[in-house]
Amino acid sequence: MPEITRACLALILSCGLAYGGWSEIAPHADPYFDSLILVNRENRAPIAAPSLVLPDVPPARSGNASNVYMQPNAANALEQLFAAAQVEQGYLLYAVSGYRSAGTQGAIYERRVEQSGEAAKRWVAPGGFSEHQTGLAMDVTGASVRDLGLTQRFGDSEEGLWVAHNAHRFGFIIRYQRGWEQITGYNYEPWHLRYVGLEHAARMYELYIPLEEYLALLQQERVNEVLVALGLAPLITPTPTPDPTPMPTLELTPMPLMTLAPEAIPSQPTGDNPFGTPRPIERP
Ligand code: DAL
Ligand code: ZN
Repeated sequence: MPEITRACLALILSCGLAYGGWSEIAPHADPYFDSLILVNRENRAPIAAPSLVLPDVPPARSGNASNVYMQPNAANALEQLFAAAQVEQGYLLYAVSGYRSAGTQGAIYERRVEQSGEAAKRWVAPGGFSEHQTGLAMDVTGASVRDLGLTQRFGDSEEGLWVAHNAHRFGFIIRYQRGWEQITGYNYEPWHLRYVGLEHAARMYELYIPLEEYLALLQQERVNEVLVALGLAPLITPTPTPDPTPMPTLELTPMPLMTLAPEAIPSQPTGDNPFGTPRPIERP
């Protein structure tokens, strides 16, 4: 088959897979891809609320677990992650913020933008566009930095380092890493765990690529599978390798660490602390 024909076929397959696999039109059509659902600045979360359960993990604010719900698979994995941290290392992790409705997310966004202007948009997703709406994300912290609120210092804490290198064993990724800001659209958030399932989390940890790039890789692999099944040569696509020179972080207006004012949105006792201290780029 001529190269141009093969390329056209690959393009058609890519478009078909993108539409059927990860389109916001039918995000839950294929259970296999549920845990890989892409929610970011361009891709809205599904309107329907997910099934939710309360994971049996300690909330950061004792006595208030109302904002740490997750989808059942993710909740179960989070319980195992927290238990492993304690059993293997004696680390105490805390759940800070899980499922958020579009309305709650929108209220947080409006408030943060009002308080801090444009910089807040690199920390908080607008209503409708947050992974927290999927029930697959959880902001976490550890005992050593718990009193600081959500802070980038968690990434350098003993608990945060352990989470960064072990979350994949339980199906989670650190969704917003240093150096990925221009792809993910958000600043480094070592506290934001996203459940993607064991297999994908392991591959993404190994490759050290953001979800956006991983989905593109899967799509290429599926196109190749179809081409091979049709007796055609696969497209030659280089295997991504961890980037030793991550992109620079965005320019941020330096701001002091601050904890959330919980009284600002009573129904949402806490959420992401959007103002960690910018740090130099370094690979985990
Ligand atoms: N902090 C993440 C980007 C959110 O608000 O969903
Ligand atoms: Zn988060």
